[in-house]
Amino acid sequence: MSSTMTNSVSSLAQALGEIPPEAVVFGQSEVMQALRSRLDKVASANVPVLIHGESGTGKDIIARLVHSRSPWRSGPFVKVNCPAIPGTLLESELFGYERGAFTGAYGSKPGRVEMAHRGTLFLDEISELDMSLQSKLLQLLQDGQFCRIGAQADKKVEVRVVCATNRKLEDEIENGNFRQDLYYRINVVNLFMPPLRERRGDIEGLVSYFLEYYNRKYNCKARPLSPELKEILQRYHWPGNIRELENLVKRYVILGSEDVISNDLQPRENDLIASDINFDGPISLKKLTRQATRALERKIILKVLHNHHWNRKQAAKTLNISYRALLYKIRDAGLPPNRARRPPEPAKSQVAAD
Ligand SMILES: Nc1ncnc2c1ncn2[C@@H]1O[C@H](COP(=O)(O)OP(=O)(O)O)[C@@H](O)[C@H]1O
Ligand SMILES: [Mg+2]
Repeated sequence: MSSTMTNSVSSLAQALGEIPPEAVVFGQSEVMQALRSRLDKVASANVPVLIHGESGTGKDIIARLVHSRSPWRSGPFVKVNCPAIPGTLLESELFGYERGAFTGAYGSKPGRVEMAHRGTLFLDEISELDMSLQSKLLQLLQDGQFCRIGAQADKKVEVRVVCATNRKLEDEIENGNFRQDLYYRINVVNLFMPPLRERRGDIEGLVSYFLEYYNRKYNCKARPLSPELKEILQRYHWPGNIRELENLVKRYVILGSEDVISNDLQPRENDLIASDINFDGPISLKKLTRQATRALERKIILKVLHNHHWNRKQAAKTLNISYRALLYKIRDAGLPPNRARRPPEPAKSQVAAD
C-alpha cells in the first residue's frame, strides 16, 4: 500500500479530528445556515452528494461531515484527489489491479474504491476524471460493481460516493468533457459552498477561531487584530477564501506583526472592484470609476493613519492635504474618527453595476 493511500484512508476519529467546531464551520450567515439544514437532511440518507464551490471554501470539511453522519460513519473515509494522481495511474489507484495486468504488476492490489467499502469514497476535483474513468465510475454508481484492471470478473462494493468540484460541471458537459449521465448520478444532492466574500459576517468569528487555534498550536500570544486590520479583512475579496484567511492568521501569529498582513493584502485589494462587478448586466463606467477611486482613497488614508498610529495631523502632512480636509475625508469614508473606536460595519462590497 502506498503512503498516499495510507494517508487517505482514515478512521472516523482521524477524519473528524481536523474539523473545527460546527459553530465555526457554519458561522452565522444565512447561506451557511441553509447549508447546514440541507446537510442535516441529506447526510443520513445514503445518496451521492456533489459539493461545489470555489477553492478554499471548505468542501473537504463538508465531505467529512457528510461521512460523519452517514449510516457508514464507522467505516473508512477514503479521499482521492483526482488531479494529484497522474492520469495513467488514476485507474489503478481507484479500481486496483490483478497480478500481470500490466508490466510491473507483480502482485494484485485493491483500489481505493474497494478500500472505501461500507464507508465514504470522496472524489475531489471530479472534473479531472477522464472519459474512460467516468464510465467506470458510472457503472459503480449504477450497480455497485467495478472491475480491477486485468480481472476477469466484476466485484461488488457498497460505498457512499461524495464528489467535489470547483468547476461548473454543466460547462464541462457542454464542452464534451464530462458525461451527462454521470453528472445526474453524482448530483443526487447538491451542496453549494459560498465564497467567503458572500458571508462576510462570518469573517470575524473565523479570525478569532484561527487566532486561538494557532496561538495554542505554536505556543504564541498574538493579540486580537486591530480594528483597522479587521476593517481591511472585511473589505478584501478573498480569492482564496477560508484557506487564504487561515494562512493569513497563521502568518500573523508566527510573525507577530500586523504590518505583514496589511502590506500583503494592499496590492491584492486593488482587484476588489473588478472581481465584484456583475458583467452580466448594464455597467456604468462613470459610477464604477468613482466608487473605485473612493475605495482606493479610503485604503490609502487607512494605511497612512495606521502608519502614524492614528495621529491625524501627521497623516494629513504625509498625504499633503490639510488637517480639515483629512477629517472630512475620514468621516466621508465612514472611518472611525480615532483609533480607539471600532470602525462601523463597512458597506456591502457588492458593487452595483447600474
Ligand atoms: N468553515 C470553516 N471553518 C473553519 N475552517 C475552515 C472552514 N472551511 C474551510 N476551512 C479551512 O480552510 C482550509 C481549506 O478548506 P478545504 O475544506 O480544504 O477547502 P476546499 O476543499 O473547498 O478547497 C482548510 O485548512 C480548512 O480547515
Ligand atoms: Mg479541497
